Amino acid sequence: MTMETQIVGCSKDGLSRAKKYIEEGEAVAFHTETVYGLGANAFSDEAVLKIFALKGRPADNPLIVHVHRDYELSRLIDGEPSYAAALRKAFLPGPLTMVYPSTGKVSKYVSCGLDTLAVRVPSSPAAQAFLREVDLPVAAPSANLSKHVSPVTARHVFDDFNGKISLILDGGACSGGIESTVLDCTGKIPQILREGLVTREMIAAVAGDCLVYKRKEGEKPKSPGMAYKHYAPRCKTAYCHSAAEAKALYAKESEQNGKPCILCESKAAAELAGYDVLDLGGTGEAMAQRLYALLREGERRCTLLIGIEPTLRGGVMQGVLNRFTRAFGGNYEA
Ligand code: TXA
Ligand code: MG
Repeated sequence: MTMETQIVGCSKDGLSRAKKYIEEGEAVAFHTETVYGLGANAFSDEAVLKIFALKGRPADNPLIVHVHRDYELSRLIDGEPSYAAALRKAFLPGPLTMVYPSTGKVSKYVSCGLDTLAVRVPSSPAAQAFLREVDLPVAAPSANLSKHVSPVTARHVFDDFNGKISLILDGGACSGGIESTVLDCTGKIPQILREGLVTREMIAAVAGDCLVYKRKEGEKPKSPGMAYKHYAPRCKTAYCHSAAEAKALYAKESEQNGKPCILCESKAAAELAGYDVLDLGGTGEAMAQRLYALLREGERRCTLLIGIEPTLRGGVMQGVLNRFTRAFGGNYEA
C-alpha cells in the first residue's frame, strides 16, 4: 500500500495527528536524541507486527519500548536490582536502554520470544512531546529499512519510508547520532549488550561495576540485533587501516572510472589533501554525531566508500567503532 508521507514539526497539530495514527495502530516516525525511531502502540500485536513488516526486520530481533518518564517505565517492570534504580536516576531520560525480566504487559511480539523487555526514556524535547501526547508505551526500532544506515534526520527517514508511512515528526538532526546503550539489568552486575553514548565508565561510576557482553564463538547473541549485518551504505565499501592503503584503493577505483570517497577521522583526513574525503571529526562525540549522516552522504555520491579505521579508543568511541566496522562489513565487537 502506498500513501503520502508527510514531514511535520512537533506543533500542536503535528502531535495530535501523531497521536491519532498511533491510536489507529499506524506507525509514526519520531525524533530522539540518538536516532529517529519508527514507533507503534506497544500494547497492540497488529501495530507491533506492522513495524517488522515495514522495516523488513527479522522476526527474532526484539524492539525497545519507549515511554516519556521513569514512572511509566516502572509500571512496565516488576521490581529491579538497586543498581538499576540508581542508573535510572543518573541517566534517564537519556540514551540508555534497560533490559528487565518481562512482565507480559506489552504485546508479546515486542520481545520476540525472549523473557526480557527493553525499555527506554528518550530525552529529546521532540521525543518527550510525542510520548507525552500519545500517552502509551511506544515500541520503536530505528526508523531505517533493516540493514540500512540508521536515520539522524527526518529526510533520512523519508528516503527509506516514503509512501510507506503517513507521518514523520521532525525534531531536527539527532544530537547523539548513534543508538542508545543497551544494558542488561537482569543480573547481579549490569552488562552492556550494545555500546552507545552512555559508556561503560559512566555506568560503572554509578553501579560500582559494569561488564561488556562479548559473544562466544557459535553462541546465540544476547542482543539479537548484534548478530545482523547492519548500518550498511548502498554502495561498494572497502575497509582499511591507513591513509596509504586508502590512497591505493582510491587510485584503483578511479582508474576503473568509479567515484571513490574516503570516510575517516580528522587525523587521517589531514594526510588526504586532494582526495574526496568525508571527515568524521576528532572526538568520539563528533564522530558519533556525524557517522550515519556521512555514511548516507557517501552512498549518495560515490561508487566506492573507503573507510579508514579510526585510531581513537575509549568512551563513546567503543560504540562508534562497533557501528563503523559493521557498516563496512566487519564484525568488530568491543
Ligand atoms: O537509540 C535507540 O535505541 C533507538 C531509538 C529509536 O530509541 N532505537 C534502536 O532500536 O536502536 P533498534 O531496534 O534499532 O535496536 C534495538 C536493539 C537491537 O539490537 C535489539 O536486538 C536489542 O536492542 N534489544 C531489544 N530488546 C531486547 C531484549 N529484550 N534483550 C536484549 N536485546 C534487546
Ligand atoms: Mg536499528
